[in-house]
Parts: sequence; C-alpha cells; structure tokens
Amino acid sequence: MTRYSKLFEQTQLEGLQLKTKTAMAPMTRCFADDETGVVNTEIAEYYRRRAKDGIGLIISEGVVISDRAKGNPGVPGIYTQEQIEAWKEVTNAVHDEGGTIIAQIWHVGRLSHHELIKGQQPQAPSAIAAAGQVPRFRKPYEIPEEMTKADIKEVVAQYAQVAKNALEAGFDGVEIHGAHGYLIDQFNSEFSNKRTDEYGGDLKQRLTFMKEVISAVINAIGAERVIIRFSPHKVDAPEYRWDDAEKAIQTYVEAFKEVGVKIIHPSMLNFYEDVKDGKNLYEIVRNYWSGPIIGVGDLTPESAERALEAGWIDVAAIGRPLISNPDYLHRIQQGEPLVEYDAATHLPKLI
Ligand SMILES: Cc1cc2nc3c(=O)[nH]c(=O)nc-3n(C[C@H](O)[C@H](O)[C@H](O)COP(=O)(O)O)c2cc1C
Repeated sequence: MTRYSKLFEQTQLEGLQLKTKTAMAPMTRCFADDETGVVNTEIAEYYRRRAKDGIGLIISEGVVISDRAKGNPGVPGIYTQEQIEAWKEVTNAVHDEGGTIIAQIWHVGRLSHHELIKGQQPQAPSAIAAAGQVPRFRKPYEIPEEMTKADIKEVVAQYAQVAKNALEAGFDGVEIHGAHGYLIDQFNSEFSNKRTDEYGGDLKQRLTFMKEVISAVINAIGAERVIIRFSPHKVDAPEYRWDDAEKAIQTYVEAFKEVGVKIIHPSMLNFYEDVKDGKNLYEIVRNYWSGPIIGVGDLTPESAERALEAGWIDVAAIGRPLISNPDYLHRIQQGEPLVEYDAATHLPKLI
C-alpha cells in the first residue's frame, strides 16, 4: 500500500480517463526535425516510458499551430499531414501502455525571431517587443507586427484546425496554451496588449481573443477533451504578478464559464506561493470553480498528495522530475530516491 493513496487513484476528467491523478506537465524538448516540425521514434519512446510508468495524463510538449507560431528550434508542429502522420507513432506508443495523451497547442506570438519563422515578422496583439532574448537562440526579441482582425480570424481558425488534426493523430484531446506570456497571454496582459478595439481594454475585454480561441476549439472537438492553461507567470517578465490575484481569477473563471470550458490548468512555478492573504492560487481558484483543476509548480509527491487531499486540485502535474525520472511513479511507490533534475545533464538527451 502506497503512502500516496490519492496520487495513485484513478480518475476521469470529463472525457479523459486517467490511470492515476498525475499528469506530465507540458515540456518543450526541441527534438523534432527543425525544418519540418516532424516527431520521431525517439520521441515516441520517451512518452511511452512515462505512460508505462502509470502517469495519468501526458500533456505533450508545446506543439505549434503554424510556421509563424514557433519560438524555438526543433519544436514540433501539427499543421501538415506529415506532422500528423508522425504523431500517430507517439499516440500509439502511449495507448499501447494504457496511457492518455493530449497535445498542447501553442502560438508564441512575439516571443520569436524572423529567422525561426521562415523570414516572417513575429505577430502579436500590439507592436511592442518583449524584453530579453529568444532562449537557446541568443538573439533579442523583435518588434512584432500588430495583428489585424483578419490575422486574428486566421489564427483562431488555425487553433480549431489543429485541434481536429490532434484527434486525427490519435491524441485524446488538447490543451490550449494560454499561459506564460505567449500569444494568448500577450492578449490577456496589459503590458503587451495596448489595443483600442474589442480585443483590448480592461482584463475582461483583453480575454476576448482567448475566449474566441477556446470557443473555436470546443466547437471543433467538444469541451470534454479540451483543457485551458493560464498563468500569472510570463517567461519574459519573471517578476510579474497579478495586481489583485483574486479579481484576476474571478475574471478568468467568468470567461471560462461563458464559453463552456470544463477543465482548467492554472500554472504556477511554485504551487504553494502565497498569492493573497496567505492563500495559494489553487485555493482561491477552487472558491470559484467546482470543475476539474490541474495543479503544478515544484510539487513533490508529498506536497502533491496534500493538495489533492485538500481538494484544491484533481490532478497533480509534474514537470522537471519527470524529465530526469522516466520511472517517477515506480520510484516513489517503492520509496526509491528520485534523480534530481539538472538542466545541463538532462536537457540535451531524451531518457
Ligand atoms: C524544459 C522545460 C520545458 C517547458 N516547456 C513548456 C511548454 O512547452 N509548455 C508549457 O506550458 N510549459 C512548459 N514548461 C513549464 C512546465 O510545464 C511546468 O509548468 C514547470 O516546469 C513547473 O513544473 P515543475 O516545477 O514540476 O517542473 C516547461 C518547463 C521546462 C522545465
């Protein structure tokens, strides 16, 4: 009998059947073919090992929705037939082991560089460059092109199309990447969205683009297999916090309910960070949202178990420890030590 009884319970998140209340957090690994965005057998085996270990929900690395959505070399796509066909090997591998896998669909917006996106200018809600450099590429972020309404319509349609492609490729659903300062979050945030049309204004109004994306994806594949990820954290503004976390959460949750979202994935770097009056983010979210919540952020088996017991979350997502331990659940069940994650050692290869 394991001491992590909640973590090892089966669960059903709407249309997703999970062997345990654990998820593999989405993690970009940059092992796809850089030119074609096509995945390979090595990547399929990487995900297979986590499914075999019993991870309940595998959320894939960010998968881009178009050429222009890409922000790092070697990131896979799911918008060409070749890409879709290649993903079938991954989804088959996970399903062979009785696992469940969804694709995280991603557009980086302004967090890119024209050399990464076939000479195009990065696109964003407003023509404001992000601070800093493209990771692994060491070139400063460029001034993006402000998206027209036609651009917005095009991108929303791309999200819907790749959601369908994901099902064709054998994924059990999708997670919309609305977090961490990428395109959707650029619309959501006051410092990257200075628009004066219906896509800009106060937070409620800035969430318009996100709502349109969610609606289009839900229309395409049904709400019971769609997750939305969102966060106060931005990769290009690490110090950023919501002014009033409770108010922000209320506004997001209202938007989610309006468009019929069923599963949410609020993302924190540190799950237990005090965001307001001694409360963690998930505690506050739970006051407004009774449906399934995935939690994340430096969770250990103990702290994940505690969060599940408290009822703040329904599934605990684990990131870096799953890069360094393909047999994470086996180890914690047997009381064996975990291999500590080290970016320098673990990122250059897939184990
Ligand atoms: C190498 C690496 C790549 C990541 N790539 C993504 C990504 O593609 N999409 C995303 O939403 N989050 C990404 N993240 C964030 C993780 O999903 C997760 O939220 C974060 O690592 C915190 O969880 P942890 O403390 O358990 O690692 C990445 C994190 C790491 C370490």
